Amino acid sequence: MSDLTLSSVVSGYGRKTVVFDATLSAPAGQVTVLLGHNGAGKTTILKTILGLIPAQSGSVTFEGEDISRSTPRANLQRGIAYMPSERFVYDDLSVDDNLIAASLAVPKRQRKYTVTDIHDLLSMLKDRGTQLAGTLSGGQKRILSTGMLLMVNPKMMLLDEPSLGLAPAVVEQLFDFYRSLATDTGIGLLLVEQNVGEALRIGDEVFALRSGRIFLRESAERLSQRTEFWDLF
Ligand SMILES: Nc1ncnc2c1ncn2[C@@H]1O[C@H](COP(=O)(O)OP(=O)(O)OP(=O)(O)O)[C@@H](O)[C@H]1O
Ligand SMILES: [Mg+2]
Repeated sequence: MSDLTLSSVVSGYGRKTVVFDATLSAPAGQVTVLLGHNGAGKTTILKTILGLIPAQSGSVTFEGEDISRSTPRANLQRGIAYMPSERFVYDDLSVDDNLIAASLAVPKRQRKYTVTDIHDLLSMLKDRGTQLAGTLSGGQKRILSTGMLLMVNPKMMLLDEPSLGLAPAVVEQLFDFYRSLATDTGIGLLLVEQNVGEALRIGDEVFALRSGRIFLRESAERLSQRTEFWDLF
C-alpha cells in the first residue's frame, strides 16, 4: 500500500529548527488532515516529505521505503506530488499546455490520465483548454493546479492550503472532488488546511500542529463533535 509515514521528524532551515518530533501517517485512499496556525510548520513538513528540505533527524517512509534522503524528483517519480500554497500555474500557457507541461515531470510510462480525462474529471476546465491560465480566476487556477497534479498519476498528493482565497462554494466543490478521489481511486491525500470546517468535513484522520509540535491526533468524525476543540484554535 502507498502509505506515507513520518517518524520523529525534526526539520527546519539551516540551524533553525521549526518542526519538532513530528510523527504522522497518511494512508492510501484516505484524506489525512494537518491543521495549524500561520507559522506552525505545516509547509515545512510538506517540503521535508518532498525532499525540498532535508530532515535534521527522524525518518520519512513511503510504501515501506525510507525516503528521508531522497530528492524531490525521485519522490515525484515514486508518486508523491506536491501542490504549493501559491497558485502554481504557468500564466503564459493555455490551460491544456499547463496540463501537458505538468505531465513532463514523469516518464511517459508513469502517466495515466490524458488531457481529455482531466477535462472529464474537472469539468470546469473543459471549455477552457485554449484559455491562457493567467486569465483564470483564483478558484479556476486551483482547479487547474489539481489537474496538473493528476497528470503525473500520483499515489500521494500533498496539498498546501488549497482553500486559500477561494469562495466557499468553490472550496466545497473542490473538496468534494478530493474526497471522491481518495475514496474512488485509492490516492492518499495529505491536506494542510486552516479551513477547519471543510477539512473536517472530508477528512479521515486529523493531526494538529502548534509551534512545530503535533499536539493532537483524532478522527475527523470525533473531532467534529468536540466543541471545545474550536477553542484550541
Ligand atoms: N526559508 C525559511 N527560512 C527560515 N525560516 C523559515 C523559512 N520558511 C519558513 N520559515 C519559518 O518556519 C516557521 C514555520 O513556517 P511554515 O511555512 O512551515 O508555516 P506554516 O504552518 O506553513 O504557515 P502558513 O499557514 O502561514 O503557511 C515559521 O516561523 C517561518 O517563519
Ligand atoms: Mg504554509
